[in-house]
Amino acid sequence: MNLQHWADALKTHWGITADLCQLDGEYDLNFLATARDGTGYILKAMRPACDAWLVEMQVQAFQHIATRAADLPCPRVIPNQGGAAMLSIADENGDQRLCWILECLPGKCYAKAAPKTDTLIHEVGAVLGGAGKALADFEHAGLERDFKWDLMRAGWIGSELDSISDPARQSLIREIDTDFAKLEPVMTALPKQAIHNDANDYNIMVAGELTEPRRVSGLIDLGDMCAAPRVCDLAIAAAYIVLDHPDPEAALAALVAGYHSAYPLTPQEVDLVYPLLRTRLAVSVVNSTLMAIENPNDPYVTISQAPAWRFLEGHKIHPGLLSARLRAACDMPVVDGADRVMAWIEAERGGFAPLMGEDLSKAQMGSLSVENSTWPQNPFHMPLEEAARVGEEFEDGGRIWLGYYHEPRLIYAEPAFRKGPYKASNRRTVHLAIDAFAPDFTPMFAPLAGEVFVVENRTGHLDYGGVIILRHETPAGDPFYTLYGHLDPECCDRLQPGDRIEKGAEFCRLGDHTMNGGWAPHVHFQLALTTEGIEADWPGVGDPDEMYLWRAVCPNPAALLNLPDEKCCYEPTDKETIRQGRRDHFGGNLSLTYADPVMLLRGWKHHLFDEWGRPYLDAYNNVPHVGHAHPRIQVVAADQLKRMNSNTRYLHPAQTAFADKILSKLPDHLEVCFFVNSGTEANELALRLARAHTGAKGMVTPDHGYHGNTTGAIDVSAYKFNAKGGIGKPDWVELVEVADDYRGSFKRDDPDRAQKFADLVDPAIAALQSRGHGIAGFIAETFPSVGGQIIPPKGYLPAVYEKIRAAGGICIADEVQTGLGRLGDYYFGFEHQGASPDIVVMGKPIGNGHPLGVLVTTRAIADSFAQGPEFFSTFGGSTLSCRMGKEVLDIVDDEALQENARHMGADLMVGLKALETKHACVGDVRGMGLFLGLELIEEDGTEATQLCSYVKNRMRDHRILIGSEGPKDNILKIRPPLTIDAEGVNMILTVLDGILLEVSAG
Ligand SMILES: Cc1ncc(COP(=O)(O)O)c(C=O)c1O
Repeated sequence: MNLQHWADALKTHWGITADLCQLDGEYDLNFLATARDGTGYILKAMRPACDAWLVEMQVQAFQHIATRAADLPCPRVIPNQGGAAMLSIADENGDQRLCWILECLPGKCYAKAAPKTDTLIHEVGAVLGGAGKALADFEHAGLERDFKWDLMRAGWIGSELDSISDPARQSLIREIDTDFAKLEPVMTALPKQAIHNDANDYNIMVAGELTEPRRVSGLIDLGDMCAAPRVCDLAIAAAYIVLDHPDPEAALAALVAGYHSAYPLTPQEVDLVYPLLRTRLAVSVVNSTLMAIENPNDPYVTISQAPAWRFLEGHKIHPGLLSARLRAACDMPVVDGADRVMAWIEAERGGFAPLMGEDLSKAQMGSLSVENSTWPQNPFHMPLEEAARVGEEFEDGGRIWLGYYHEPRLIYAEPAFRKGPYKASNRRTVHLAIDAFAPDFTPMFAPLAGEVFVVENRTGHLDYGGVIILRHETPAGDPFYTLYGHLDPECCDRLQPGDRIEKGAEFCRLGDHTMNGGWAPHVHFQLALTTEGIEADWPGVGDPDEMYLWRAVCPNPAALLNLPDEKCCYEPTDKETIRQGRRDHFGGNLSLTYADPVMLLRGWKHHLFDEWGRPYLDAYNNVPHVGHAHPRIQVVAADQLKRMNSNTRYLHPAQTAFADKILSKLPDHLEVCFFVNSGTEANELALRLARAHTGAKGMVTPDHGYHGNTTGAIDVSAYKFNAKGGIGKPDWVELVEVADDYRGSFKRDDPDRAQKFADLVDPAIAALQSRGHGIAGFIAETFPSVGGQIIPPKGYLPAVYEKIRAAGGICIADEVQTGLGRLGDYYFGFEHQGASPDIVVMGKPIGNGHPLGVLVTTRAIADSFAQGPEFFSTFGGSTLSCRMGKEVLDIVDDEALQENARHMGADLMVGLKALETKHACVGDVRGMGLFLGLELIEEDGTEATQLCSYVKNRMRDHRILIGSEGPKDNILKIRPPLTIDAEGVNMILTVLDGILLEVSAG
């Protein structure tokens, strides 16, 4: 390709001097021309003998869009110096080609954009809808073209079915073709207009990198325009959006809602999207099969079919339910007549026969929500014994109490409610019915006349037992359905489908827990406006992220109970209200994690739940060392609070029991314990002890360290005093480089690096001394955590301690992050180093959430400190704290959590190392046990801060909480509770791999 030829043409005819590079194009030549000032253009030199009308139509259409909808991201046509939009120019072979220029839009094509969020897909729909609306009055004779990509003419595939040799595939395409033929009368009745007709994933541009929001930056290429019903345009875009999308129905809902927001659709058009999408995919695969026959040596033709086949063959989508979903996403009645049904029910409110034979308006509501209730104790397992007692706190002498509609609950704990392979996968939590709890065998009366649609005994674990669905009709003839679950299955012997039930007739009764699926006696009363796709097996609870659909299919049935909707409809606490409250009443430097913060209300082991019951794998929090909501911790806390909770001024056996337990884990020379409230307070005390013992103040500490939030602790925390707005380093503190053998001065290939890092302490001591300070000591996180999850080379700490002691100082090991078994191989980090500290500081995990810090030191140092004033910390060493701390340490032993940390940590390490080999952006993987770091880097090896933030937020999108650390915040920090299991490890590795692929795909 003679690029110079076309660069010259550009200069001659458009006066643009630019560097050219060739872009892909099936028949035409396309060039990206970058002018000296950086402006980009697309030069299109059409195939020789290309019809002029084809270019003219596109030029006029782009110009039309620009006048009708100037905000749409469609490229402008750049006329030449003479004002002509297209010119005939000879190529280097002397063939005349029609040439034209378009503005080059920013971004990358949608195919390569990631993540493809619902928000982005909604915007794709809105841009396409906007373009459709702008083109509605565009006219050009060329639009009436006769070509295979006009979806209205898709019937051509019927005569090519034999080309598909696989019989199953052939019959699938035949079925689609037959379905399409049935649509033809509907289609031909729809108005036609100019449509883009090829909004495939290479014709949509997306801008925004990493943490920037993604936005649609271009809808390009009008080369396939034609006149057709506008829904064809939408269906064609939809046919690409669904390919290899993990949740194609959600993607379709976002796309259609986006289109509808810009160019409102009719329900009839919405219903056509899915069948037309399938038709378009059928056209694509038949077309490429024919091309493959023509070009047997081009493997690409077959490869490109694969995603379409995967979708057509792989997804079990119910068309009726999908239509309901798409209609709901557009705020339309889910089926024709649904709005009339709701209006009729509303009008009849107050006049329905009482379901339980009595007025329910005074009945109490009882909340079983994630927020208000602790049923079940283990949100991943509902034992029958608990199910039979659910809500017993609302029991009031057999009076009826009601459970909320639209309430997220954790009582649906079985894997059947999960929508993915992991405990932290999406799960259905939101109740779609109203419950009425009443004594066993309470009789029930039909609120209105109906016909038995289903009567069954569902004997599965925690299922319905007896269940009845009635079919009703409004006087206008619109059908709807009501469901009654957890019944005495005796109804199965009496009733059968088709039986008529009169209004007010007693037709069933509540079962007891031996026959109603295992639950405390109640009826689950649900309304549905359609049974499309749910038939007899309605979901009783919905995925919180799909409530736009389920609220519309199964609306609040309160009116049928003669109750106001508000009484029975639950709304979880709005996260935004809490956020605003924090803005109003808390300091601005109290930070929140994640661009979209999470509100967490329940936990269990290494999982947490938000207000909607969405589960998260907690791979970040080290405070719940033995797991969230540990039953033994609950028992100890409750037990001690029942007795008394006082302080260390009085004797209590819990004090010495806790001390004995801690000391059993430490070397013999550490024999005196101080109990305080936090890691900070323990470090603050450590500084006082060091000063009391040495009579000096000077401290040496590694850079980027963190020891707490008080004045003294911050003075030795470079992570804070050197941060933006920090107070700077005090005169009595000297920093030494962190012993980071990945990024620091001495690397892993240097066998003497431990000593070399330790030698950096010499000038620090000298600097303090030269400023007149004696050496009180050295304080370090044994393995620097905020510094980036660093494991110093073995031998570093003993070498440092030797120098510090020689200068008269003492050595403080801050084990807040590393202690108590997290490292797997070691109970404390200093053991790995072969170091012998004078003071060990413990915090966070030792209380498993209860505020607790511990300092342990030598008798000699304690004695020096005892020369001073009395030491007292009101809550430090409270009876409760001592019992909690001891319990945590006992649980670590009893549940072999240190061993678990070793095994799970080793598995994580193997998996993370594999990711390091696979993904260039993983620079280093390091850590020990469940104290792990993954350093993300740019191509040039520098710290990839934005990427790290992106990955952290995307992990959260996939329901995994992890952190980021390091001076440049480019190290992913994995530090889960010690209970994490193989499934959790697998989830972290699989999801992280997917997100890193997402990054490299771009
Ligand atoms: C190593 C280290 N030391 C001390 C502290 C302070 O502990 P607390 O926040 O409990 O006061 C922290 C807290 O993150 C820490 O990581």
